[in-house]
Amino acid sequence: MLKNIKKYKKKVKIFLFLLVHLRDLWLMSRDLEVKHLTLYKSDDWHHGYAYFTGFVEGLRVFIKIDTKLFFLKNEVIAFEVLKDLIKIPKVIAYFRRNRFEAIVTEYIDAKTLTIKDLINAPNFISKILEIIKSINLRGVIHRDIKLKNFFLYQDDIWIFDFTFAVSLSPSIVFKELDLADRFEAKILNSIGDGYNPGHLIWNDFLSMRQILAEGLVTHPLLNESLRNSIKQYLEQFEIEHKYHTYSYQIYKNGCD
Ligand SMILES: Nc1ncnc2c1ncn2[C@@H]1O[C@H](COP(=O)(O)OP(=O)(O)OP(=O)(O)O)[C@@H](O)[C@H]1O
Ligand SMILES: [Mg+2]
Repeated sequence: MLKNIKKYKKKVKIFLFLLVHLRDLWLMSRDLEVKHLTLYKSDDWHHGYAYFTGFVEGLRVFIKIDTKLFFLKNEVIAFEVLKDLIKIPKVIAYFRRNRFEAIVTEYIDAKTLTIKDLINAPNFISKILEIIKSINLRGVIHRDIKLKNFFLYQDDIWIFDFTFAVSLSPSIVFKELDLADRFEAKILNSIGDGYNPGHLIWNDFLSMRQILAEGLVTHPLLNESLRNSIKQYLEQFEIEHKYHTYSYQIYKNGCD
């Protein structure tokens, strides 16, 4: 019964999205020449975000749409700045019309990273560390570091979802969430699964170390020697954090 209600609610959500944004979808498809636009991962649509797939000039693409916050330009900037440094999806196009924003990237035919993948191949942990190092050295802090924002693709680790990235470099200007806005403040508290080193402080090394420490070190599938080698990997995150701070902090200005 409860399952049926949930299913029904999801269908209504999709129907309303299509009803409200049909014209935007049509204009986007026309302007960017997207063919075969198809709903994608509709169970995961949330906070005004919707996902589609399609084809642009024969290439399969992933389309992320934002109808509430409008931070997808950040992704375009981050993908552009980082494209020669790490494995990230290629940006194909960007579209904005009133309260409808979309980024089109190449479709990555892969599953997002899981703890089990890391148990099977712990060396991926050092790849994650290298990715975070490269990003941070370029002056970008991802802030939404979590396994779900990495792909295991072509035997390598790819990172994506730079929607809420911030930068320490004056030449990279991202839009920042506004703590004075209730909805945006809520997002600020939840990014990176809340694994920030302090309230309103973000550090990609420490977030990932915490995620791995909680999800991996105590995992029942680990034997003692694997657990020890994983602990050593995790120390690397601590070491990197100490060498380079790469923390971004929002001062509360009297807000809770
Ligand atoms: N280039 C891509 N190709 C194929 N699938 C993708 C691509 N980028 C993202 N996805 C899929 O879409 C999902 C949502 O993407 P993304 O993480 O960018 O959005 P989000 O709204 O920020 O999601 P979340 O809040 O769950 O992190 C991802 O978990 C991934 O499975
Ligand atoms: Mg994500």
